[in-house]
Amino acid sequence: MPPSDSLLLDQAQQILMSNRQAGGYTIPCQGLYPFQWNWDSGFIALGYAHFNIEAAVSEIKTLLDAQWSNGFIPHIVFQQPSDTYFPGPDFQRADLSPYAHPKFSSSGITQPPVLGFVLERIFNQAEASTLDSSLLEELALKIFKNIAYFYQNRDPNDEGLAFIFHNWESGTDNSPVWDDVWKTMDVPKYKVQRKDTTHVNPELRPTQREYDHYLYLIDLAKECGYVEEEIFKRSPLLIQDPLFNSMLLASNAALRRIFKSLGKHPEKISYLEEKYQLGKTSMDQKLYAPDQGAYVYFDLRNNKQLPYLSSSSYTPLMAGIPSPERALILVKSLQQRFANEHYLCASFDPTHPLFHPKKYWRGPVWINLNWILYQGLKHYGFEDFAQRLKTDTLQLIQEAGFYEYFDPRKKLSPGQKRGYGGQNFSWTAALFIDLLNDHANP
Ligand code: SER
Repeated sequence: MPPSDSLLLDQAQQILMSNRQAGGYTIPCQGLYPFQWNWDSGFIALGYAHFNIEAAVSEIKTLLDAQWSNGFIPHIVFQQPSDTYFPGPDFQRADLSPYAHPKFSSSGITQPPVLGFVLERIFNQAEASTLDSSLLEELALKIFKNIAYFYQNRDPNDEGLAFIFHNWESGTDNSPVWDDVWKTMDVPKYKVQRKDTTHVNPELRPTQREYDHYLYLIDLAKECGYVEEEIFKRSPLLIQDPLFNSMLLASNAALRRIFKSLGKHPEKISYLEEKYQLGKTSMDQKLYAPDQGAYVYFDLRNNKQLPYLSSSSYTPLMAGIPSPERALILVKSLQQRFANEHYLCASFDPTHPLFHPKKYWRGPVWINLNWILYQGLKHYGFEDFAQRLKTDTLQLIQEAGFYEYFDPRKKLSPGQKRGYGGQNFSWTAALFIDLLNDHANP
């Protein structure tokens, strides 16, 4: 390993340990995101698994501690009070749900379900250590309950695909994909004190109008008591998201492997297998856009595909969804649209007029999406392209540091920055560690 990488590796470990809180969980970064976030904790655990297996397990355990009685896992667990973030627990009011955890305050929306494959990787990583199979089983059963929650509550048409009702559930908050949905809504203007714009340049965060939509969708879900059946009837945003569902399917597959390795729970394995096949078929039929050569979002409320390419469009590779022939089409699409004048992988189609290289999810590179795409390319044996993705990822971090997101343009004018958003960002640090050690997960 070059000396510069080994210095960065040290720095990455320090970032994680300094963002780690006394309760055994890790915040995404200081100030901007002062609580525990769902998929952040998943990716963070992957980094810890290389140098502090106890922290890796505790990251997952602390998140699962806040799981609701119906299996739901919130996108934010407000583990400690903090006044540096809005909307906090008083606005999100998870307690309106009959299933909310009585001891933890949290949001009532979720995030892409990554915990299944995260758990599998942590335990593979820890092979020689002291983690025992009863702990693996205990955590796997909780994650199973979460996966089943999606099939039971977010899949009214029995397609093996989960819907989301808030764009924060997608993880890709202000992607231009949502612009079309906003046009179907008429939301009030909220007079609230945002906090995010006090931490980072407001120009590079979602707009005030976008926040109106985010807050309105939370208010609507609160009116429904966070009951999915009601939300399904009333929400103007109901989306089947290729990223969200790829994570669900990848976690589904990982859980089956875990149960098989334990030699237990055959009925759960069959249930998951059946749902996986259903979801895979639905995704291939409903979310694939032949003219784009990739997967897109499906607007369930308005019964149509949203015809935009984003980094999410290629994430079904990680879940083994496309046939090998279709996977090749995806890779060509990715190469043509995303790989020429840009570092991989812009979060939104760089050839589209709505692409913005610096604005949150409207174009910048996010390291977790790169990690997911890297796994997908390796899964199908696109070794050279996977290598290119890995090299680009490491280079962005080497050049700019452990930022939240990165300008994907290869050529920047003198004085232009490369890294944006939160600094010392936990999942950037964690996945840098994992990518440098990726030989552990061939
Ligand atoms: N990503 C959202 C935020 O910026 C919430 O998950 O606050």
